[in-house]
Amino acid sequence: MKMKAGCSQLKPAVLILVFNLCFYGSYQVTDLQVCELCSGAVLNGTAVGRFCSSSAGRIEGRCCLRNDNTSDPEHIIGLDLSNCSLTHVEDLQRASTALMIDLSLNPIVNISEAAFQGFIELNYMILPQDIFCPGGNTSWEKVEVKEGNRFCEGQKDTCNQTGQLSMNCPENSLCAPYGPSFFECSCADAYHGYKCLREGEFPLLQVFAPLGVSTFVISLLLWLTQRRKAEPL
Ligand SMILES: *[C@@H]1O[C@H](CO)[C@@H](O)[C@H](O)[C@H]1NC(C)=O
Ligand SMILES: *[C@@H]1O[C@H](CO)[C@@H](O)[C@H](O)[C@H]1NC(C)=O
Ligand SMILES: *[C@@H]1O[C@H](CO)[C@@H](O)[C@H](O)[C@H]1NC(C)=O
Ligand SMILES: *[C@@H]1O[C@H](CO)[C@@H](O)[C@H](O)[C@H]1NC(C)=O
Repeated sequence: MKMKAGCSQLKPAVLILVFNLCFYGSYQVTDLQVCELCSGAVLNGTAVGRFCSSSAGRIEGRCCLRNDNTSDPEHIIGLDLSNCSLTHVEDLQRASTALMIDLSLNPIVNISEAAFQGFIELNYMILPQDIFCPGGNTSWEKVEVKEGNRFCEGQKDTCNQTGQLSMNCPENSLCAPYGPSFFECSCADAYHGYKCLREGEFPLLQVFAPLGVSTFVISLLLWLTQRRKAEPL
């Protein structure tokens, strides 16, 4: 049993741990409509275009796909949605395997807080300069503003931030990065259930120990009362 929790570090006070039992790994959308979200295709001269040719990817619409016949659900490694009149960014989950995303030259007013949840590989983003990097500056190795764009480089591991580890995940669980400022907790082996409080093995000790103790107490009482009755004889 695996437990997942996605938490934004921005609000540690309102640490909303959403524990769910593996419901979302199961769905797989095979269409690539995120690549058709904007017209045209990735251009050679752009950041994603250069990245794509250097990683021998294949361009499809606004996506760069890993040129790998073995991975059957197509694997998006780059997404270029620049200059596409986007005002809101919400669901890009189909591109959660992307290493690079370009959202520059868009009149973006709002990026949903969970938009990049699960984007574990994301390592380079280009945004309009007035949009903050997802998760804030602390989620990135380097944040730079130049020529009207904001560049977010090198996603930091939320689990490894000093002093955070112990409060991140409940006992008996392991922390794993889950996109900028997000992490997930997976129960350690042999633990399961809400907050990993239950052990996976049949709880022999807990069930039998009270039974054993009460048996012992009853036996002792019986022995004592029988002995007392026997003594005067
Ligand atoms: C872009 O690159 C591809 C492959 O490298 C090439 O076939 C195409 O002509 C290039 N397009 C432009 C506009 O440079
Ligand atoms: C943005 O797109 C418009 C039309 O779609 C085009 O005229 C313009 O040159 C593009 N700007 C850049 C920087 O690519
Ligand atoms: C931004 O989006 C969130 C939800 O995605 C919404 O609650 C909020 O009101 C939006 N803010 C603006 C300025 O549109
Ligand atoms: C984040 O970093 C950028 C670029 O270094 C800087 O301009 C900005 O003020 C920082 N934001 C915060 C909240 O620290």
